[in-house]
Amino acid sequence: MKNITIAIDGFSSTGKSTIAKELASKLKYVYVDSGAMYRAVTLYAMQHKLISEERFFKEKLIDELKNINLSFKFNAALGFGEIYLNDVNVETEIRNMNVSRLVSKVAEVPEVRRKLVEQQQQMGKNKCVVMDGRDIGTVVFPDAELKIFMTASAEKRAKRRFNEFMERGEQVTFDETLKNVEYRDHIDTTREDSPLVKAKDAIEIDNSALTRKEQFEKVYKLALEIIGQD
Ligand code: DC
Repeated sequence: MKNITIAIDGFSSTGKSTIAKELASKLKYVYVDSGAMYRAVTLYAMQHKLISEERFFKEKLIDELKNINLSFKFNAALGFGEIYLNDVNVETEIRNMNVSRLVSKVAEVPEVRRKLVEQQQQMGKNKCVVMDGRDIGTVVFPDAELKIFMTASAEKRAKRRFNEFMERGEQVTFDETLKNVEYRDHIDTTREDSPLVKAKDAIEIDNSALTRKEQFEKVYKLALEIIGQD
């Protein structure tokens, strides 16, 4: 049995985290949601009035990075680690539409990326980790033994995200959700620093027409094949 690193990248709302969490729990690996880290930094920037739809005090945020401490604490009931921003659990707050609207701007800042990538690499240094994000297979763990790149149509993804908002009782329209998904796709794929691209050695999975179980079986089988190798 080999200890490996599993990188799951792809567009927003492709179901990366669902698969990554399931996989980590089945393999008894640690799951790390790297998007949650960018969201938590965005939340900090919002709380300190460093960012809004109209303005972004980027230099101030860069200055403040030393005061931002992110950690994950395992929640046994949920089966994964929840994110803490300066020791406050912000797992739910970072998922709201306001954070979703602003996070791409924060994720574009090279200093933010450098800080978070360093922490992500630390968390994965002993392997046995499943991490999802946008640049995990390309930048964070270019040597990951298994790299998955997930895609699905923008409509399908917006539908998923919209249902999540509805479950949480957020006041947003489907149209707004779709626009946000398309907007983030655009920024994520065109930013200068670590844009979202499929790593050369990643396996692409278009899950538009796959059930959750089918996707999981596919990825789990791939992982077992590699883990079983000498
Ligand atoms: O996966 P998510 O939607 O929670 O990610 C939130 C944002 O963070 C997304 O718009 C892109 C950014 N992100 C990133 O730039 N790099 C990562 N490794 C993970 C997320």
